[in-house]
Amino acid sequence: MQQQNQILPRIGFIGAGRVAKGLAWGLARSKHNIVTAASRSLGSAEQLAARIAGCGASTDAQDVVDRADLVFVTVPDDAIAAVAAGVKWRQGMAVVHCSGATEVAVLEPAARAGAEIGGFHPLQLFGDPDVALAGLPGCTIGIEADGPLLPQLELLAAALGCRTIRLPPGCRVRYHAAAHYAAGFVIALLKQATDLWQSFGVEREDAIRALLPLLRGTAASVERSGLAQGLAGTYSRGDIGTIEKHLAELARAGPDALHLYCELALRSIPLGLERGGYDEKHAEAMRVLLRHALTR
Ligand SMILES: NC(=O)c1ccc[n+]([C@@H]2O[C@H](COP(=O)([O-])OP(=O)(O)OC[C@H]3O[C@@H](n4cnc5c(N)ncnc54)[C@H](OP(=O)(O)O)[C@@H]3O)[C@@H](O)[C@H]2O)c1
Repeated sequence: MQQQNQILPRIGFIGAGRVAKGLAWGLARSKHNIVTAASRSLGSAEQLAARIAGCGASTDAQDVVDRADLVFVTVPDDAIAAVAAGVKWRQGMAVVHCSGATEVAVLEPAARAGAEIGGFHPLQLFGDPDVALAGLPGCTIGIEADGPLLPQLELLAAALGCRTIRLPPGCRVRYHAAAHYAAGFVIALLKQATDLWQSFGVEREDAIRALLPLLRGTAASVERSGLAQGLAGTYSRGDIGTIEKHLAELARAGPDALHLYCELALRSIPLGLERGGYDEKHAEAMRVLLRHALTR
């Protein structure tokens, strides 16, 4: 990427939503040069620009491309291709999108014009821009880029207080699908737990209040000890008597609850084995019980 200023590229944003504002404000705080933002509505671009001295605001994506060395395309996933195809890129500049599941090749029109292209995906959920700004430090950015753009993006991530992982071309959809297990699917599992508790009279809000410390404790345990050593509870010890009681009770709750439990339990056994909680013979006895329950 050719830079106006060798140290700090002029950075622009197309699409001034939650991620754009979080990134722009975070980068401006670390003295990066955010020159302009364009969005579908002028109001959104002005909100982004209002907190950054000297930052312009418009509804003109081409203005961002013309004024910046590095452009973040931070529109919704389905709009990235149209934005990339709808402006005139130039040799030596760089453009990245922030989508987890969209291949970087969607920016091909920019590459054809001689721009470097890449992906810069903050692995975090951003409900609003201030949540995005507060949530960025400590989170990981999935970076896909080659050549000089790669270290540039790594430096920007570091300026935001983020770690990075490199994503090879073609892996984004799998990467993004897998991340759901640590995000939305955890919420689906909490719902499963609260539904079961509601069946004996505990309100959902009370259940969530009770279960969240358990979830935090589980996350802290994994952070401290890793997946296998962080595992606690029935499947870390291989308590077959308890498993039999769980299966009998969940069979009464219904096949959905029983089958989800069995699928997750079967995936917990390798971790229990890895942490040395039981041997292979014991693990197989647990698997037999769970597989039998799955046929009910
Ligand atoms: N939110 C998250 O948790 C999260 C996390 C990681 C990555 N991402 C990725 O970050 C990107 C942006 O997501 P977001 O959550 O920030 O979305 P968002 O809050 O909905 O913001 C998108 C912005 O783009 C503007 N826009 C829509 N179409 C446009 C167009 N054709 N031209 C110019 N501007 C347009 C919107 O319009 P207005 O001007 O009308 O406001 C809005 O300000 C997506 O690729 C998403 O996958 C999101």
